[in-house]
Amino acid sequence: MDEKKVPAHIAIIMDGNGRWAKQRGLPRTAGHKQGAQTIRTIAIACNQRGVKALTVYAFSTENWKRPYDEVDYLCKLPRFFFRRYMDELMENNIQVRFLGEIERFPDDTRNVILTAAEKTKNNTGLILSLAVNYGGRREITLAAQRYAEDVMAQRADLQIDEAAFGTYMMTKDLPDVDLMIRTSGELRLSNFLLWQNAYSEFIFTPVAWPDFNEEELDRAITEYTERERRYGGLK
Ligand code: IPE
Ligand code: IPE
Ligand code: MG
Repeated sequence: MDEKKVPAHIAIIMDGNGRWAKQRGLPRTAGHKQGAQTIRTIAIACNQRGVKALTVYAFSTENWKRPYDEVDYLCKLPRFFFRRYMDELMENNIQVRFLGEIERFPDDTRNVILTAAEKTKNNTGLILSLAVNYGGRREITLAAQRYAEDVMAQRADLQIDEAAFGTYMMTKDLPDVDLMIRTSGELRLSNFLLWQNAYSEFIFTPVAWPDFNEEELDRAITEYTERERRYGGLK
């Protein structure tokens, strides 16, 4: 694999946990638990391959519509995840961040999330961002609101370019997404990283997230390296 062409920023819509579980006669929550393990595997693999940033969609602003028990389980997953994998994340020099409005989660979930970010903040390897209570339109709306406040307070100029507006996004110091992967066969963006995906390459795989593995990741990265990115120009 050509090191230079490895995507700097990979984003993943981790879909299919529920269907994976159903096929095995298990409750949907079993799929979410297995999916959490996949995050660990793929984060370590991305780090080893020289990917700078991995942003994964863990809970959308729309996922609150799900039954209470499922939402409750998803709120408890961060505790399970970090209890089990924090040592490995540290050993691998992985920095954990969060995108989304975490205020809406219960105190316990929020504390687990903030503690993980604090503990890993000086790690210099892969930046693993977990999008939780995240929605792309919500992110852009909040950015517009904060920008308007800055203009009114005369902290920002009314004339603004894309790079400057980008600093109001939750991903402010990350590069744009290079490769966007969605698992489990659905062909849509479901409100994920609308701003950052302006020119990313998309790869859809039928594999459910709990079954996604290093081999699938390498397949996606290889396909990415073979694509020609033109950004509206000519070859
Ligand atoms: C993705 O798996 C995880 C979350 C949205 C939290 P799903 O739970 O959407 O699984 P399916 O799509 O129902 O199979
Ligand atoms: C997108 O998956 C959100 C996450 C992976 C967290 P969904 O399963 O919620 O998306 P839809 O409902 O199929 O669009
Ligand atoms: Mg789904």
